Amino acid sequence: QSLTEFNTLGLAQRCRRFRRLCCDESILEFCQDVNNEKEALLVLGGGSNLVFTEDFNGVVIKIESTGITLTEDDDDYFLNIAAGESWPQLVESMVSKGINGLENLALIPGTVGAAPIQNIGAYGVEFEQVCDWVEFFNLETKTLHRLSAQDCQFSYRDSIFKKDLKNKTVILRVGLKLSKQWQPVLSYGPLKNLNSKTVTSKAIFNRVCEIRQSKLPDPSVIGNVGSFFKNPIVSNNDFQKLISQFPQLVSYPNDNGIKLAAGWLIDHAGLKGHTIGKVGVHDSQALVLVNHGGATGKEIIQLASFIAERILTVFGVKLEVEPRLIGKNGEIEFYG
Ligand code: EPU
Repeated sequence: QSLTEFNTLGLAQRCRRFRRLCCDESILEFCQDVNNEKEALLVLGGGSNLVFTEDFNGVVIKIESTGITLTEDDDDYFLNIAAGESWPQLVESMVSKGINGLENLALIPGTVGAAPIQNIGAYGVEFEQVCDWVEFFNLETKTLHRLSAQDCQFSYRDSIFKKDLKNKTVILRVGLKLSKQWQPVLSYGPLKNLNSKTVTSKAIFNRVCEIRQSKLPDPSVIGNVGSFFKNPIVSNNDFQKLISQFPQLVSYPNDNGIKLAAGWLIDHAGLKGHTIGKVGVHDSQALVLVNHGGATGKEIIQLASFIAERILTVFGVKLEVEPRLIGKNGEIEFYG
C-alpha cells in the first residue's frame, strides 16, 4: 500500500498492511487482537507530523473515528471528541459557535487524537492549556485509561506519549475544557496590536489564519510537515555568548533557559530556499522543509542533516527534529 496520500510531506513510501478504523469499537477490537511485538504498528492520524524515512515493514492503522459531544456547567464548556476528528475543523466550528479558547490554534493540520502527543502549540497557546483529559488504550497492558491533563506531562512539543508511553498507546478520545470567562491570548508578536478589551475570538482566529496562510505553505499544495525542527533551548550562558556575536538573534525566555527561533538560525546561516534533489528549505519560512515533488524520505533526512550540521558549525547550537521519524520497523531517532 502506498503511503503518499497519507503523509502531508507527500513522501513516496509504502507499508506492508493498512487498515482504516472508523469508530472506537473497531479501534478497540484491533488493539485487543494486535501483537505489536510480532508486527510493527504505526498509528496514523492526519499524517501531518511524521516523516517516512523508508518503506514501513508493518501495519499502519488510520484513525478515522468521529463524534463530538458538548456539555457545560456554569463555568466551563466540556468537549468529548473522537480521535479521528480534524483539529482545524474543530477549531473553526467552536469559534463559529462562540465557544472560545481554541482560536490561536487555528489551521494546525492533523487529527484531535494526535494533538496531545506533541502538545501542539502556536501563537501563544499550547494544547495543554485547553486539555482536560486524554483517553487511550495501552497496547502493552491491553487496558483502557484516562489521564488528566496534569498527568500527561505536557511541555514544549512534548508529553508522556513521547516519553514513558512512547509507541505504547492508541489515543481514542480527548477531553477539552474551555472556560466561559474567556481571556484573549495576544502575547505573540503579530497579535499584540489587537485590542485586548474589544477583540473577539473570531478576530484572533482570522488573524491567525492570515498569518499562517502568508508564512506557512499549504500541505495540499506543497508537501510539508510544518516546522521541521524544534526551537532549541539554550542556557543563559550560551545565550549571552551567542547574542554578543549575533545581536539580531530572535529569542524568547523559557522556564529552562532561552528559546531560540530555529527559523532565524537557518535563515541567517544562508539556507533559505536551499535545495537537495527534490526537497528544499521553504522560501518564506526557513523552519519548514518542502517536497518539490516526488521526494523520498532519504532526501528529506539528507537535507535535515545538512541543516543541523551547518547550524552546529555556525552557531554551536544542536537542532532537534520536530516531527516523528518513522523507519522500517517504527520510530527512529535523528542523529543530525
Ligand atoms: N524567522 C526568520 N526567518 C525565517 C523564519 C523565521 O528570521 O525564515 C524569525 C521570524 O521573523 C520570527 C522568528 O524567527 O521573528 C520566529 O518565527 P515564527 O514566528 O514564524 O515562528 P517559529 O518559531 O518559526 C513556532 C512554531 C510554529 C508556530 C509558530 C507561531 C515551533 C517548532 N514552531 O514557529 O509551529 O506556528 O511558532 O507560534 O515551535 C509547527 O510546529 O509545525 C509550527 C508551524
